[in-house]
Amino acid sequence: LRILIATVRPMTWSVASDELMTWGYDAQLPGRLLRATAGDLVEVTIDNQLPEATSIHWHGLAIANAMDGVPGVTQADIEPGAQFTYRFVVPDPGTYWFHPHHGLQLERGLYTPLIIDDPDEHVVAEADYVLVLDDWLDGTGTTPEEEYARIRTAGMEMGDMSDMDHNSMEMASSPLLGGDSGDARHPFHLINGRPLDDPATLDPLPRAGDRVRLRFINASADTAYRVAVGGHRLTVTHTDGFPVEPIDVDAFLIGMGERYDVTLVVESGAWPIVALAEGKDQRAGAILRTSDTKPGRNVLFEATELDGVWLRYADLIAHERVRLEPPVDPISIDVALTGGMMRTDWGIDGRSYGEHLPIELEAGRWYSLNIANDTSMWHPIHLHGHTAQLGRAAGGVRNDTVNILPGVTTELVFRADNPGQWMLHCHNAYHLEAGMATVLRYGGDA
Ligand code: C2O
Ligand code: CU
Repeated sequence: LRILIATVRPMTWSVASDELMTWGYDAQLPGRLLRATAGDLVEVTIDNQLPEATSIHWHGLAIANAMDGVPGVTQADIEPGAQFTYRFVVPDPGTYWFHPHHGLQLERGLYTPLIIDDPDEHVVAEADYVLVLDDWLDGTGTTPEEEYARIRTAGMEMGDMSDMDHNSMEMASSPLLGGDSGDARHPFHLINGRPLDDPATLDPLPRAGDRVRLRFINASADTAYRVAVGGHRLTVTHTDGFPVEPIDVDAFLIGMGERYDVTLVVESGAWPIVALAEGKDQRAGAILRTSDTKPGRNVLFEATELDGVWLRYADLIAHERVRLEPPVDPISIDVALTGGMMRTDWGIDGRSYGEHLPIELEAGRWYSLNIANDTSMWHPIHLHGHTAQLGRAAGGVRNDTVNILPGVTTELVFRADNPGQWMLHCHNAYHLEAGMATVLRYGGDA
């Protein structure tokens, strides 16, 4: 049994010698790591000291629906001054995190890593570190709500422009993401709450020659990161908490809500861990320094590996211990991602959340959600309560969040084995706020 009491309240956080007013868990950024072992009963009481209602969503965990933390769907709001206790058994080991499911709260300092250890761990590492990536604007003269209003206005003005004005507009754009990479403006990008000019050093220091495991979580609102470690190749061992057949790459792309675990054998030295804000010409960094190296050496946050061999989804195969065995013909459900920046009318099947038509499933059946991106921007799509196989081919990796590029259709294959009402939504905080979300639902026994 793991018991945690987290107080969620306004706090100040210093970034680059600025004292920023924001909201956080226990005045920490990220919130204090919650660690448990698969099969444990976890109990977390949230004490809401915010001026507005909140909730907690356990991102990636397939737990009982009543604990999923979506106000109006799985529970009532946790009102200001109120407490709520979440209690659940953690089903699967892996790298997860929690955050509110309420308006733009995630875009403040409200996120905490959640690591579930495997009693039967197959990845051997001498050291294990969590790295939480985040794009930051709260308290820098703006708030998430003001930024959302700015994006809406910019979208409307864009709608009124001629094609020529359009072409001359500077957009954050990335070939890797198929175009516009994000619309919000973030003065800072953080790893574990620290900006590039005041980076964290991973602690405790590993010894030269140690195999280290790095667990990356992208808690940002509007930024995909291209991640590499200077001087090292990376062995990818897990996606979204679940093990994969190990694969060596130089760099990987991580969308909002996604997690990647990688290992590397660290050489003597002080090495940059670089997270490039994809398509935005900004970056975050942390330092991986071995215990035989003196501190204070200047680490440059550059890595040729960023332009090396990429991890692609198609390269990934689920580890045999977590492979799903779907039938050859799961029931297909077509889902379209719709809308755009001009009217900020992001939606699913042409409807914004609130006007959505729930997708009805039947317990015990296998489904393939065929999600077509009919918009001109990429979206990291997250399914609650299940981890799906990516694609129909046998051995596809297990994911709960997947980046879908413009014009692409991605199949998420899963068994309806966890009855309830489950959100399917874009993990871009602004797109979710604009309504790119729907609900999957089924009752009864799986
Ligand atoms: Cu991490 Cu519904 O989200
Ligand atoms: Cu989106």
